[in-house]
Amino acid sequence: MKQSLMEKFKKELLEISYLGSAVAVLHWDQEVNMPEKGNDLRAKIIGNLVGELHDKFTSSNFEKLLLELNKKFDAGKLNDEDSCIVRETWREFSREKKLPLNFVKDLAETTSKAQMIWSQARVKNDFKLFLPELKKIVELKRKEAKLIGYKGSPYNALLDTYEPYMGVEEIEMIFSELKDFLIPFLAKIKKSKVKINSSILKGNFPIEKQIEFNKSVAGKLGFDFGSGRLDKSTHPFSIGFNPQDVRITTRYKKDDLLYSVNSTIHETGHALYEQGIPTEGFGTPLGESISLGIHESQSRMWENILGKSEIFWQYFYPKLQKEFPGQFGKIKFEHFYQAINTVKSSLIRTEADEVTYNLHIILRFEIEKDLIEGSIAVEDLPQIWNDKFREYFGIKVPSDAMGALQDVHWSGGMIGYFPTYTLGNLYSAQFYETAKRDILNLEKEIKKGHFEHLLNWLRKNIHIHGKLFSAEELVEKVTGEKLTSKYFIDYLEKKYSEIYKLK
Ligand code: CO
Repeated sequence: MKQSLMEKFKKELLEISYLGSAVAVLHWDQEVNMPEKGNDLRAKIIGNLVGELHDKFTSSNFEKLLLELNKKFDAGKLNDEDSCIVRETWREFSREKKLPLNFVKDLAETTSKAQMIWSQARVKNDFKLFLPELKKIVELKRKEAKLIGYKGSPYNALLDTYEPYMGVEEIEMIFSELKDFLIPFLAKIKKSKVKINSSILKGNFPIEKQIEFNKSVAGKLGFDFGSGRLDKSTHPFSIGFNPQDVRITTRYKKDDLLYSVNSTIHETGHALYEQGIPTEGFGTPLGESISLGIHESQSRMWENILGKSEIFWQYFYPKLQKEFPGQFGKIKFEHFYQAINTVKSSLIRTEADEVTYNLHIILRFEIEKDLIEGSIAVEDLPQIWNDKFREYFGIKVPSDAMGALQDVHWSGGMIGYFPTYTLGNLYSAQFYETAKRDILNLEKEIKKGHFEHLLNWLRKNIHIHGKLFSAEELVEKVTGEKLTSKYFIDYLEKKYSEIYKLK
């Protein structure tokens, strides 16, 4: 029987995905298992496979198929699923076509060198050392925006890699509402008479016992250990080779159990999304997540909205006390709950609480947008950072190492990435509000340890679609409204007004 155009195309896509999946396994292994000396050859092997993948994706045969299908798409001759496959592949393909090979090489070399220099600059607390590299990166990213093309701000072209179809104007509007709430709210919390003792969380927790506890939590939330693993690594991450094999990792600190528990719940949230994407879609955009922001909405819903809630710990705290009686046996639930929800202006984004976290993001978003639009100079970055920091957090930044040099993103060329973290928080609050309306007694069930109702809801409403909808369409379809900061603001206000007894 003659293969249809679409069937031929899907076969090509599948072969590309096999390579991509193999590369992912090698990356995972590199982070989790690989001995030190394996590094050099491994980099070559991965580089070679990525090259092959790129060749396949940009081959004339592939292009011919895609062009023909794109004509059908334009003429409205494809069904919804095939439209999604062609539209999203075309997006990626045309983006790649617009970037000349020498530009891609230049960017890769620049960022690889910049990452090394950035980590030295951070250790030495020397922004000037990093400055020439960052200048070059900003210049290249502005060039990238030009090559790709954009409407409005050049930042839109970069944002599009991480949060497709989202516009900077919309983010600016939503973030400024959020900022207008957060700054005075944080000031109020700081004035609260409630003083929380978070040191009760510190103690001595053997790693093996932590691993056991984390595995039991991930499993209880619905992580399928028949289709995934939980391992140790220096930086926690999750990676899906396909929906039937999803890996997550956690980092452990001997004196801080909640550190690994939070990170495991976060990565479990990502993994539940990956495990929930239909296997039939594997290889095509129907088997891919929508965007980084939607991905983060899943990890943050589990990590924060649930993982730092009273109902969640009403179920898990007795178990925690039983496993670690020396530490938690005598600590009251109320004090534990307060301790895991301490709000504090702090310098480091990755250690921030739910309230201040988003100010860290808004600050970075504003700065990187201005850098790309050319309205501020790279030289002035530390000063601008420190001024904004004082304005938003009310504290002084003592060093660039703890300020403008703290994140890996800019040295890696990942400009446009930061806003997806806060978008994730906003999506998650809006989704969760809808889930509460849709699911009878959702929170009562959670208290009893029945997480499957929420997971099934997420599967049915979000995971199952792959990339069929854009983030914007999905939010409207699921919640009946456009993305808004309202639900997240309400959530923070209610929760932390109770904890800090604010009026
Ligand atoms: Co994440």
